[in-house]
Amino acid sequence: MKGASHPTNDVTLGESSVPSIREVIDSVEASRRQFIQGGVSAAALASVGGLTLGGLVNTVQAAPIPPSVGFPGIGFENVPANTRALNVSLGGSATAVVDKVTVPAGYTAQVFVSWGDAIMPGGKAFRGDAAETAADQLKQFGMHNDGMHFFPFPGLSGAAASDRGLLCVNNEYTHEDLLFPDGQAANYNIAKTRKSQAAHGVSVVEARRVNGKWGVVKNSIYGRRITANTKARVSGPAAGHALLKSNEYTIGDNGSVSTGKQLDGFTAYGTVNNCSHGVTPWGTYLTCEENWNGNFGSTAALPATSTETGKLYNRYGVTAAGFGYQWHTTDPRFDLAANPNETNLFGWVVEIDPYDPRSLPVKRTAMGRFKHESAQYVVDAQNNVAFYMGDDERNEYIYKFVCSGKFNPANRAANRELLDHGTLYVARFNSNLSGEWIALQPGTIGVNGQALRDNPNFAGANDAEVQAKILIKTRMAADAVGATMMDRPEWTGARPRINGFDEIEVYCTLTNNNRRGSSTTPSSNAIDGSTTAASARPAVDAANPRADNIYGHIIRWRETGRSVTSTTFNWDLFAQAGDTATTKAAKPTNDYKGNIVDAPNGSADYGAPDGLWFDYFGRLWVQTDQIGDGSGDFVNIGGNMMVCADPNTGMTRRFLTSPNKCEVTGVTMTPDGKTMFVGIQHPGEDALYTNPTQFSNWPQNQFTVESDGVTALPAGRPRSSVVVITKDDGGVIGS
Ligand code: FEO
Ligand code: CA
Ligand code: CA
Ligand code: CA
Repeated sequence: MKGASHPTNDVTLGESSVPSIREVIDSVEASRRQFIQGGVSAAALASVGGLTLGGLVNTVQAAPIPPSVGFPGIGFENVPANTRALNVSLGGSATAVVDKVTVPAGYTAQVFVSWGDAIMPGGKAFRGDAAETAADQLKQFGMHNDGMHFFPFPGLSGAAASDRGLLCVNNEYTHEDLLFPDGQAANYNIAKTRKSQAAHGVSVVEARRVNGKWGVVKNSIYGRRITANTKARVSGPAAGHALLKSNEYTIGDNGSVSTGKQLDGFTAYGTVNNCSHGVTPWGTYLTCEENWNGNFGSTAALPATSTETGKLYNRYGVTAAGFGYQWHTTDPRFDLAANPNETNLFGWVVEIDPYDPRSLPVKRTAMGRFKHESAQYVVDAQNNVAFYMGDDERNEYIYKFVCSGKFNPANRAANRELLDHGTLYVARFNSNLSGEWIALQPGTIGVNGQALRDNPNFAGANDAEVQAKILIKTRMAADAVGATMMDRPEWTGARPRINGFDEIEVYCTLTNNNRRGSSTTPSSNAIDGSTTAASARPAVDAANPRADNIYGHIIRWRETGRSVTSTTFNWDLFAQAGDTATTKAAKPTNDYKGNIVDAPNGSADYGAPDGLWFDYFGRLWVQTDQIGDGSGDFVNIGGNMMVCADPNTGMTRRFLTSPNKCEVTGVTMTPDGKTMFVGIQHPGEDALYTNPTQFSNWPQNQFTVESDGVTALPAGRPRSSVVVITKDDGGVIGS
């Protein structure tokens, strides 16, 4: 449904020569925004599309979205969709969207940190030509940032500071053609592998605001890179299992040399494909290993699916070609033929203590092994703590991990091993809007009537080994117990229980699924765990109601009895994304149009929701990950964006639009809510080394200096970056 006071987007004012009201609104807003930025004359504002400005401004100015229970309202005006048409109206290309970050009037965005910026002592400034070595990259911000969190330092009064802290940022993946001066195909060698590995992982960045300006403390002793080669500890019920004993290598600049021994199953090296994230209530960072399978390759044929390892590879999408990385050709650690168990050391949630730069990251096996997206915690009134997690692949599942021990708010150290003991559950969504959390334990009875301990996939000497195998092969355990296949679970977010709202209510973005409802002979993930990753073609169901789900949706649930230990919940769909203005041949339902509740100031349509986060005040922020260049199904929706929504009414307003062919992912705030950090990932994706700026030249085309006002941004190639956003009146973001 639409906002009551809003014109529908697809109503035109007349025949084709007259712009649609949407185009007029977009043009006027773009002009007003330029005006506020000092860009255009009053004369240019006086007339748009032959209509006087005054009348239109009155039409499009938005009333604030009012506060309600647990929600503080939204005060900013809608940013127009960043469409190709908008780009053309501003003098740009007809095959791209505006190559900039745009925020509402009254807000300022500045680039905070970009791929290649120095973040620790000895770090070199980014060159622009990608000639940095792996050693250089190890002291620079990693590539293609994703989830992140701001950890405040203690302030002078003892309260958490909002002017100084540590920003922990995932660096999900690398784009080799931008990472190397001569691309990936030519002269591939171990030096390239090492640089690619060094650009993955996590960056810990000290952020400081001085005289109102945010900057990176470039020589911070807290600055840290955790990469594909960083030593880590493996803990929890699966630690030490034979499947986690990979081959031991001496990892050097010139290669990884086998020692002829095996690791002990309690030790791992590296974290990769760090996507969304989580934090713990005791102040540590959780980085989540998502498409780790893609970083591996094989110099020989893979084992048959009749073998335990071959079956595991098949269920998790591990292939001989991977995603096209060439690491395995120069680093045997990532060669499946040489080191078949290495994959089992990836796919975990990894805990990092940002305040202790010497601490080892810890892979927490109790939380299960899949393509982890996020891990959102909730502490209930009894101090029970749970983490809600999605497995982002088509037809995968939603999980929660409930710690056995209780959270101790008075003693940080007492919580440090909470993630090693607890129960992992998987969700079943029933058509009557009820749901169940099914424990993945040895005694759980599968849909075939067999306890998991009697299922050959988890055969073990005792229940401890059965549990270890359930955690290593989590997807197969979920298959066996009849969990609900979902449309690619991305981020989870928990609504804060404040200002009269007191439910445990958790949201999850389901970004899309082109295999849903796409076959006349639907299929499900086989209960014996034999399905190739993402190959099933399930029918639509109540929780995933759209065939060929292009635009995605957001599901939410409330735990029974306001307890995170509950094994039942109620659920509904918060939103189905879509394009209200689409002219695509109608499907009978809202499959294309969606049901976004618009702000009364122009469409806030979006598609492919991915990032999702409740801020500390109760506003819901949603970020998108679609093609990002305003093409195809996104011609009206435009590039990627971040919207803000009222969880009570669904009323949605667009807060930020982004450069060409990027994804908006990662959002966090300072404790006072007056500074927001937002991630812009892979601007200009798909460019070749021969023309790195073919699709985007962001951020240097928008910002002349970094946020600290010191260093000119070098030209050369687009860079994934974190932007810092403040409100010009010093207020809380979103107010
Ligand atoms: Fe890396 Fe599922 O997003
Ligand atoms: Ca994501
Ligand atoms: Ca995504
Ligand atoms: Ca992306």
